[in-house]
Amino acid sequence: MKIWDSFIRVYHWSQVILLGSLWYTAEEGLMEWHFTLAYLLMALLSTRILWGIIGSDTARFTHFVTSPKKAINYLTAIKSGKVSQAVGHNPAGGYMVLGLFFLLVLQLTTGLFSNDDILSEGPLASLVSYDTSSLLTSIHHQIFNVLLGFIGLHIIAVLFYRVKGVNLITPMLTGIANVVGNSPKMKNVAIAWGIFTIISVLIYFLWANEVISYLF
Ligand code: HEM
Ligand code: HEM
Repeated sequence: MKIWDSFIRVYHWSQVILLGSLWYTAEEGLMEWHFTLAYLLMALLSTRILWGIIGSDTARFTHFVTSPKKAINYLTAIKSGKVSQAVGHNPAGGYMVLGLFFLLVLQLTTGLFSNDDILSEGPLASLVSYDTSSLLTSIHHQIFNVLLGFIGLHIIAVLFYRVKGVNLITPMLTGIANVVGNSPKMKNVAIAWGIFTIISVLIYFLWANEVISYLF
């Protein structure tokens, strides 16, 4: 059955490419690109969060955020060897997804207040003192390391499932999983792309137009 709509899938793999590019551009001091790609990720993530409220069943927070007790029971079952494909995120995976979203929001927000001590500063850096901006810049650096830790754990979990005979990666590519249960309701992804377009236009006029005009 279909468990992931195409917006979730495009969001997921774009996020992987964008995070790699954000790391590379910051390391190389390509700050105009760093800002531009970060704004793109910001538009995607904001859409994903709204999609978590109004989107397809498996995208919704109410579908994958369960009680901590359920998550613990689930992990205990895994320990005794019960690993299976869920219709969407499993109870423990739901918390990992929330953690990743939270860290991405923090990373994007601190970036807006960061400065590189040379030429570039986020569009909100001038609203705070230099010391506060520098503090938020160092948090921006540290959160990235925490994010890498979470991503590592996420990939290890996916590979653990693979070794146990459950392939989660193909469904994240095709949307289709071999699983029993009620089919989740899918929403029209044109709505998600409409929201994405509106948010992108807003970010463009608010912050991105200046930096993009340097690039092109
Ligand atoms: C930059 C690295 C990555 C980040 C930040 C990331 C983040 C995420 C997030 C936020 C979700 C939830 C999707 C949603 O509900 O919208 C997810 C799901 C998923 N990711 Fe990643 N991911 C990364 C890399 C990878 C890689 C390299 C793989 C493959 C090895 C992978 C495989 C998956 C799979 C299979 C799921 C669905 C899990 C499930 O069945 O519940 N991810 N990832
Ligand atoms: C999820 C999104 C983001 C990621 C993953 C990310 C990642 C990074 C990383 C890894 C660095 C440090 C590079 C180094 O070691 O020197 C960095 C620096 C920086 N980022 Fe981001 N960033 C993101 C979003 C943003 C945003 C939205 C802005 C502003 C619009 C921004 C502005 C900056 C600035 C000004 C620096 C330079 C800090 C310095 O040189 O010390 N970032 N970013």
